[in-house]
Amino acid sequence: MENQELSRYRGKRILITGGTGSWGTELISHILPHQPAEIRIYSRGEAQQVISKRRFENHPALRYVVGDVRDKTRLDLAMHGMDIVFHLAALKHVPVCEENPWETVMTNVIGTQNVINAAIHCHVEKVIYVASDKGVDPLNLYGVTKLTSEKLIVAANNMAPTVFSCYRAGNVIGTSGSVIPLFREQILRLGEVTITDPNMTRFFIPLRMAIASLIHAESQAVGGETFVLKMKSIRISDLAELMSRELSPKKRVTVKQIGIRPGEKLHELLISRNEAARAIDIGEFYVIMPLVDIPKLNERYENEPRGIPGEYSSENAKLFTQEDFTELLRAEGWLDPDHPSPYLSRLSEEQLRHIYAANKWLGLS
Ligand SMILES: NC(=O)c1ccc[n+]([C@@H]2O[C@H](COP(=O)([O-])OP(=O)(O)OC[C@H]3O[C@@H](n4cnc5c(N)ncnc54)[C@H](OP(=O)(O)O)[C@@H]3O)[C@@H](O)[C@H]2O)c1
Repeated sequence: MENQELSRYRGKRILITGGTGSWGTELISHILPHQPAEIRIYSRGEAQQVISKRRFENHPALRYVVGDVRDKTRLDLAMHGMDIVFHLAALKHVPVCEENPWETVMTNVIGTQNVINAAIHCHVEKVIYVASDKGVDPLNLYGVTKLTSEKLIVAANNMAPTVFSCYRAGNVIGTSGSVIPLFREQILRLGEVTITDPNMTRFFIPLRMAIASLIHAESQAVGGETFVLKMKSIRISDLAELMSRELSPKKRVTVKQIGIRPGEKLHELLISRNEAARAIDIGEFYVIMPLVDIPKLNERYENEPRGIPGEYSSENAKLFTQEDFTELLRAEGWLDPDHPSPYLSRLSEEQLRHIYAANKWLGLS
């Protein structure tokens, strides 16, 4: 099934906004072996593009375009001739977004509308937008912009034949800003971990699984739907406990409780109470039907029963057992003490100890 989905990319021209980030890099590795005519990577930073180019050994199907999603003219040029667009570019660190609200709106909201306009103008077949659980009943600006972009993407379906769909997911294990590299660094260097609230829960998924599901969602998309990945969750105190046990088997690790931070939820939501009535269970995903009327979408799901019992939160989702999560972390190398985190390993012990207070720029989730 997965190979059939991937073979659809043969000969296709694909644009990935934010293609040098965690999701983009993994997406490239999934698609590249299946002979796309071109994967065009659109992002601002040349350094990250050079790193990506080296990582994929100058693959001839990859083309790097330096550009900002805020720049309509550049985006129009980059979108020319593309069949499929994965729109991943975003500012995503919660405190950074909070302190730079207009910059966040410009990139996450205006940038998304620019992607929509360019896709329509260039007759792109499909645009898939990666949304976030932080956009469900949002508590911070990052979430608000992710929700707004979902609405822009959904409504665009009534403007042109291009298919516009959303794929909503929770935390991906170990991406930049994730709590997992922080816990590892704290356990190994300080013998302590800082947790905000022992009852806090979070959805988690390995990056390769999130990308495989993103591709599956793209293959199913008819336009206007929000695919919600079914994810398991874990209590943060269990995560701290299992990482401490694995990384420091001989020495007891102290757990410091520092209280929930502004803009943070105790439990994340993938489907809100209000959306539950519009949700359809299609197996691997839930599909949320939009508030606007999209005839092609109604037709696709007309025979599917609508409504799920209530909100889908990291509190009521299926929980990972400590054993299952340990295996996931081990497989991804997060329980390997010799696998330093490039940014965190440069911090002093003092900075690492007071990371939440001292470094508001780390949007840990
Ligand atoms: N990581 C998660 O756990 C998670 C969970 C759910 C949803 N998401 C969503 O998934 C997407 C990708 O996340 P990620 O973790 O891969 O993020 P990431 O590693 O921070 O990558 C972000 C990418 O966007 C680019 N970018 C940022 N601003 C841009 C702009 N103005 N114009 C063009 N490119 C820009 C960055 O490159 P430059 O800075 O060089 O431009 C980079 O390539 C985001 O939309 C995020 O909201 C992530």
